[in-house]
Amino acid sequence: MKKSVRLFIIVICLISTSPFKIYSQQEETIKFPNEWKFIPGDNPEYAKPDYDDSKWKSIRVDKIWEDQGYENLDRFAWYRVKVFIPSSLKEKAFLKDSLKIFLGKINNFDQSYINGKIFGINGKNVPSDTKIDTSFLNAPTNFWDYNRRYTLSVNDPRILWEKENVFAIRVFDQGGQGGIYTGDQTISMVKISEYLSLNYDQVQFQYKNGSIKKLLVLKNTSPKLTLAGEFTINAVSKLDGEIVSDKSYNVNLKPGAAKKINFSLAKQDHSNIVTYKFDFTKSKESISFSEETPYILTPPVSLKPQINGARIYGERTGKPFLYLIAASGARPMKFQAENLPEGLSLNKNSGIITGRVNQKGEYSVKLTAGNKYGKAQSYLKIIIGDQIELTPPMGWNSWNCWGLSVDQSKVFSSANEFINKKLSQHGWTYINIDDGWEVKGDSKDPKRDTNGNIIVNEKFPSMKALGDSIHALGLKFGIYSSPGPLTCGGYTASYQYELKDAESYSSWGIDYLKYDWCSYDNIAKDHSLPELKEPYYVMREALNKVDRDIVFSLCQYGMGDVWKWGAEVGGNLWRTTGDITDTWQSLSEIGFSQVENAKYAGPGHWNDPDMLIVGWVGWGPSLHPTRLTPDEQYTHISLWSLLSAPLLLGCDLERLDDFTLNLLTNDEVIALDQDALGKQAVPVIKRDSIQVWKKNLSDGNIAVGIFNLDSKSKKFTLDLKGLGLTKKSLIRDLWRQKNLGRFKDTFTADVPSHGVVLIKVFKG
Ligand code: GAL
Repeated sequence: MKKSVRLFIIVICLISTSPFKIYSQQEETIKFPNEWKFIPGDNPEYAKPDYDDSKWKSIRVDKIWEDQGYENLDRFAWYRVKVFIPSSLKEKAFLKDSLKIFLGKINNFDQSYINGKIFGINGKNVPSDTKIDTSFLNAPTNFWDYNRRYTLSVNDPRILWEKENVFAIRVFDQGGQGGIYTGDQTISMVKISEYLSLNYDQVQFQYKNGSIKKLLVLKNTSPKLTLAGEFTINAVSKLDGEIVSDKSYNVNLKPGAAKKINFSLAKQDHSNIVTYKFDFTKSKESISFSEETPYILTPPVSLKPQINGARIYGERTGKPFLYLIAASGARPMKFQAENLPEGLSLNKNSGIITGRVNQKGEYSVKLTAGNKYGKAQSYLKIIIGDQIELTPPMGWNSWNCWGLSVDQSKVFSSANEFINKKLSQHGWTYINIDDGWEVKGDSKDPKRDTNGNIIVNEKFPSMKALGDSIHALGLKFGIYSSPGPLTCGGYTASYQYELKDAESYSSWGIDYLKYDWCSYDNIAKDHSLPELKEPYYVMREALNKVDRDIVFSLCQYGMGDVWKWGAEVGGNLWRTTGDITDTWQSLSEIGFSQVENAKYAGPGHWNDPDMLIVGWVGWGPSLHPTRLTPDEQYTHISLWSLLSAPLLLGCDLERLDDFTLNLLTNDEVIALDQDALGKQAVPVIKRDSIQVWKKNLSDGNIAVGIFNLDSKSKKFTLDLKGLGLTKKSLIRDLWRQKNLGRFKDTFTADVPSHGVVLIKVFKG
């Protein structure tokens, strides 16, 4: 048994890359059917076991209801299903305490009933006398990504053993996608291994003295069982499978007890796969967890000055100008700017350029940054005219980390971290508040003052002061609203107050507005093009009336092929997809499908495949390290840069680790995103799970990303002639910032599974 378990685990390791858990002992499991009964609407009668649902339609529980004919359903709906629960389930189990009802993920909220009695709300077990109200709707929105795992004692009278049980799930969808959607719903007995917790996916590896380290904590969460067994940690190279480390510990954990283990590995330039396994002595059960180790490719930043960031910058005539020269290197640093247009001045110590330019024109400004180690020079083309956002925005947005729990201090601390962690020295500029700064739509408090000005909620004592302090750092300030009456999170939005809101934004110093469709569905007649465009025209007109340049970010998930008309309604960028989350599936589905829209991207108007999911994310209030493997994160940043996508971080900047910083401060990679030509990469080869994406650059050369979408690492030979390269070409590895040599005809590379080799090919 032991041997076969080990074999099984090794096989899984080779084919799967995201952190995962495996339970080895296959006890009896009841699978829910994949089709349940379904009805939109809300009625407490639907919970009753004898309710007649025969006229209800069928629905699958492995995909969102929007994909099954319920496109605009953003409210209550009920699911029902009948399942026979045999007594053999508990008779055969090693532990005979509790029954587990696993419903997978539900978007957004659930109240779950068995045989007419409630047993769970949003993933929490509840007693049958729980008062049913609507307070569950105020729960944080990240419940959409949360597995519903409910347990009931075997003696609980709500379970009917050896009989048919009626499950009824009341679901509320707050907006966007909805329903029970991950499939594989099951009923089983709780196993002993489910009482063991290991924090491997809650702590990141730290870099120290040539090794990576992690403090592991094994914990027994059972109040009455002792967990005894052997804990092994095995690490193998992801590239060739060679064993790098193999350790084992005898563990005996009393109820509630924990054991700490310091685990370290030598630093490498590729991932290792680490498998943590626990073999339980008594039950012969085993459980294993696996993850891939981080590796840093970006060379350390030099102490010498280097001017980074875009080489082109646009502002409209007569509008407030704010530009921070992105320069890395030791401080103090002195800046110079020659040939600045009239109306602008430079702060020589901070490198912040401010003012207003009243004259249209193109100015080639020579920037100099100097410190005790040397001097760097670079040219910045400033274009004063009609266009802004000549390169995609780079910054931070509160949503993917804090969700609706965002507040002023979190926003200000992010701005500070841009400076402290030196991200601003690599071009990171915008600090954007997403949903959650307004007064809630269902609150009794006033939402607007007597003049119609929007009121900010208590979490943001002063937007003006916040804006001023962000600007003082040379950074820019963004905000969020919806064209409907409410935002997606149910907060007050701009419908019929567009100009008032634009004026408020302007008075606070707002530089960027994300405008999210959401409740505008209740206003729009349908999803025809004129209806889809209308609210964006209205807000664009309002923004044009205020004395600021405000980047206009359309968020409506790609409806009506927004890339075809986003620029026409005045958008600087537009979301092309639904919301991203920190999984390979979400990242790869979104990233690799940005094909058809490529030709619509360019200076001033960009496709937006949604924000970044590296670092600590979580949609608030509690966060976790991204579930993407290190290779998946290299793919994420490489692909988004090739796509000229907006780079908006969605993580807690106070908790940036060395690996994530390495992803965000590689100037040669960022330079692809910020390239002045603004050409979105296109796929040129798709073969055997390898995709090659090519991006034309303003210097006449090309950037190429070789992506491996397979679960196995692969060697790939790129035909250079197929890319139009006939002469010997210099190839540079952009992550390592290293020339690889001159190549003719072919270039061969090892591409890690879910990873990338990102190169620049110099023509001629
Ligand atoms: C979604 C949007 C997210 C976030 C959220 C706020 O519709 O796609 O990015 O802004 O609303 O409630």
